[in-house]
Amino acid sequence: MSAPSPVVAPSILAADFARLADEVRAVENAADWVHVDVMDNHFVPNLTIGLPVVQSLRAATALPFDVHLMIEDPARWAPGYADAGAYNVTFHVEASDNPISLAKDLRAAGAKAGLAIDRDTPVEPYLDLLPHFDTLLIMTIKAGFGGQKFIPAMLDKVSAARRHARAGHLELRIEVDGGIAEDTIAEAAEAGADAFVAGTAVYSAEDPAEAVRKLRGIAARAMTEP
Ligand code: DX5
Ligand code: ZN
Repeated sequence: MSAPSPVVAPSILAADFARLADEVRAVENAADWVHVDVMDNHFVPNLTIGLPVVQSLRAATALPFDVHLMIEDPARWAPGYADAGAYNVTFHVEASDNPISLAKDLRAAGAKAGLAIDRDTPVEPYLDLLPHFDTLLIMTIKAGFGGQKFIPAMLDKVSAARRHARAGHLELRIEVDGGIAEDTIAEAAEAGADAFVAGTAVYSAEDPAEAVRKLRGIAARAMTEP
């Protein structure tokens, strides 16, 4: 089986919130997904955007939405994002008391189901959940803010999850989120990630679309090297 091609998902957390539709269109022909960080000022201290913004933005682009819920009580809110047309809806394992049931609800609502693991959470206790998920998001920073420094030690979790997925023949996207840039994406890809969130690296670039293409090129090379 050949490796799937890498997914690059620009995070609009680093975009200009007053011009969100334009900022998404700036990567329309380059990005694979648009990463939408939803924060509720409870699960994480920061506060960003919610469902009404996602609903409005949905009409502004053809790109699939990768919604990353950093919120408490995801069972209450996550299915609404699937109903709004999100391609993938990811919630945090630390916030969920019944992740399998919520994954089933998301899939029933027509979305891919994603499980996120924050910086201080080990992945091993959750490996058995993976058959119920399409995406595993490994935070490579502490969830809550963009612009933080990539933590290489988090890649041990990526490798462990990739080994587990391979052994079980699971079709699983492993996504890394936090500090992904030209100088960190290759090591994440080598560890087994195949989806890459990038906020600052894309939206602080002069040409965001070009930045996305460059990142994908580096990831693709790292994924195919023996
Ligand atoms: C932070 C968010 C990330 C953030 C990444 O909690 O989950 O998606 O946008 O931003 P950068 O790429 O700047 O680290
Ligand atoms: Zn995110």
